[in-house]
Amino acid sequence: MQWKRVKFIVIMVMVNLFIFILMCRQSGQDKNGRQKIIVPSKPFWTKLSPVDAYWNRQQQILDFHNNPNWSVNRSSTDLPEWLAQTSVSSNTCDQNIKVTTQVKEYNVLPDRFKDFLLHMHCRSYPIVVDQLDICKEPPFLLLAIKSQIPHFDRRQAIRQSWGQAGVLANRTIVTVFLLGMSSSWDFHPDLSDSLRDEIGRHPDIIQWDFRDSFFNLTVKEVLFLEWIQSRCQGAQFIFKGDDDVFVNTYLILDFLNGLSEDKAKSLFVGDVINDAGPHRDKKVKYFIPESLYVGKYPPYAGGGGYLYSGSVAAHLYEVSRLVPLYPIDDVYTGMCLRKAGLGPEKHKGFKTFDIEEKYRTNPCAYKSLILVHPRTPQQMIEIWGWLRRSDLNCQ
Ligand SMILES: *[C@@H]1O[C@H](CO)[C@@H](O)[C@H](O)[C@H]1NC(C)=O
Ligand SMILES: *[C@@H]1O[C@H](CO)[C@@H](O)[C@H](O)[C@H]1NC(C)=O
Ligand SMILES: *[C@@H]1O[C@H](CO)[C@@H](O)[C@H](O)[C@H]1NC(C)=O
Ligand SMILES: *[C@@H]1O[C@H](CO)[C@@H](O)[C@H](O)[C@H]1NC(C)=O
Repeated sequence: MQWKRVKFIVIMVMVNLFIFILMCRQSGQDKNGRQKIIVPSKPFWTKLSPVDAYWNRQQQILDFHNNPNWSVNRSSTDLPEWLAQTSVSSNTCDQNIKVTTQVKEYNVLPDRFKDFLLHMHCRSYPIVVDQLDICKEPPFLLLAIKSQIPHFDRRQAIRQSWGQAGVLANRTIVTVFLLGMSSSWDFHPDLSDSLRDEIGRHPDIIQWDFRDSFFNLTVKEVLFLEWIQSRCQGAQFIFKGDDDVFVNTYLILDFLNGLSEDKAKSLFVGDVINDAGPHRDKKVKYFIPESLYVGKYPPYAGGGGYLYSGSVAAHLYEVSRLVPLYPIDDVYTGMCLRKAGLGPEKHKGFKTFDIEEKYRTNPCAYKSLILVHPRTPQQMIEIWGWLRRSDLNCQ
């Protein structure tokens, strides 16, 4: 007994010492003697203090112009000098060449970042395929699936399974697929004939004229929020997700039917990630350099799929112009939610990191789940068949 106590005390002392050393290192200067950037904690866009990171500066500029406490008749000329330098003045969507000198170490950034930065200020791209009347009867649920031109089989599987438009369990559902362009510039084969054929058969494609890359998914998000307002404002709920997930649409409807009126209005649920921050390892898909962003991420729902109300969609659309585009779309949506004073709520039924292998072929496992990622087109059709079986007896 005594020994255990002594051991415990010694360990606690060591842990404290370790934390103390860590804190000293953090608050001091870095190896090169430069002053470390001080990252504001709490709502990081409300403070106006010098930072190097380009995104953070753009946010400060937007805050400067839109924060009612600061913007009483202030013009750009009132911006502090350190901020004014990075102000983007033009509204055109031409490349913003100034970033090449304004972003630290721009030249050594991976190409996708250079591309992103050159176009970061642009949020409007022409719509090339639209569905003007698809929401003439405002649906109870709008299913919006982020897809890419070559994924014909995924779209077809979704149409034949969980994404069937029409009436399900006495609720109306409208399905749309969100596409950009797959350019020959990226060495994509020309699939425009096949796409035209698909659009003729299935009036569910929305397409905009921008390059459909990972970093441009945020552009897709912003354009979709705008599209909802102009074409499907009456949708009561919206599910937005990837084309490689399985969704139990029945369970979504059950869940939505059971919500109180208040809850329904402010709904935003998904697989919520708390306390995350940018990856600094260059090899990770989600790598973000310090010259672009510093600080933590607000809580956000994984982009595999999340569910929200029509009124939240309207809020998101309004605040999105107050938040600079960020290269990771689900993080961006989290930033907008925070700006709107809202937050995502975790729902255990969203499994964006899949379920244990031993349950994956068990039909009953899918009865109580809203979303599972990833699933192939064939698996989507198989699992949907399981859910429709009336003799499926799960305890
Ligand atoms: C404006 O100032 C008030 C009072 O100081 C504060 O409560 C509020 O949060 C501020 N608003 C913003 C957007 O900073
Ligand atoms: C801001 O400017 C507008 C027009 O220039 C003027 O009508 C308004 O009174 C000004 N507001 C303040 C708080 O100075
Ligand atoms: C189906 O929905 C409509 C309106 O949404 C409702 O009036 C009707 O009672 C429902 N029918 C059943 C069988 O639940
Ligand atoms: C986003 O799309 C625009 C328009 O097609 C393109 O110029 C830009 O390079 C794209 N950005 C990224 C990061 O792919």
